[in-house]
Amino acid sequence: MKTINDFIDYKIHNKKITMVTCYDYTSATLVNSSSIDCVLVGDSAAMTMLGNNDTTKATIEQMAFFTEAVAKGINNKFIIADMPFLSYRKSHEQTMDAVAKLIQAGAHAIKLEGAKGNLNIIEYIVDSGVPVMGHIGLTPQHVHSLGGFKLQGKTLDAQQALELQAQQLQSRGCFAIVLECIPCSLAKKISKNLDIPTIGIGAGVETDGQVLVFQDLLGLLNTGFKPKFVKSYLNGAELITQSLNQYANEVRQNIFPSEKYSFKGAA
Ligand code: KIV
Repeated sequence: MKTINDFIDYKIHNKKITMVTCYDYTSATLVNSSSIDCVLVGDSAAMTMLGNNDTTKATIEQMAFFTEAVAKGINNKFIIADMPFLSYRKSHEQTMDAVAKLIQAGAHAIKLEGAKGNLNIIEYIVDSGVPVMGHIGLTPQHVHSLGGFKLQGKTLDAQQALELQAQQLQSRGCFAIVLECIPCSLAKKISKNLDIPTIGIGAGVETDGQVLVFQDLLGLLNTGFKPKFVKSYLNGAELITQSLNQYANEVRQNIFPSEKYSFKGAA
């Protein structure tokens, strides 16, 4: 299994880190048999698994539930679990309880969004022995204050703020940082100036690794909207619907179950 030390090594040796989200046991067994390096139990589960419009509905109980299911299907990969909306902005004690829930559910590290106001708690979590992944740029838990799911870092001021946040997260002990939906040139600059790896999503090719949402990667969701940065490597929705229809047709025509799928009795 890869560890946070391997990911630093990957950066030193210019080797890309591959990450995918995962939320359930069946998908976890598929990811487990792939060459992907690490798994993110993202709070995007609130959207992909629970059908919400954004991630603010995710709760710590749900994230622990998804993490436990994923951990049962993964035996050879580093698992990072998302701290959900506001779970690290309440009391110190509540934050640490939430961290404990995710680690005890099977995560090896946690991820939380944003730098401003989070630096002390990040340092405390890291000092408590739990690796922390940062996440800046488009931070979906801030969707309402950002005015939607939009490209971040468009102005010089915004770019400088993101560069500073990345440095702050590194100095407080984050082992890696997700850069979401920012211009490629900015992602390149941030990545180059950090010792820890960056994992991009909608941030171009010059980050130290990439992450995609499982359902997006496999084309499983037919919700109509597909962000520019999503590449689907399979038309999963179409293939699955075809199989469901074939099954339904075979049942209607008495083709399934054939003898092969039936038990012979004495009668
Ligand atoms: O929750 C999630 O899926 C994420 C990734 C998009 C990085 O945070």
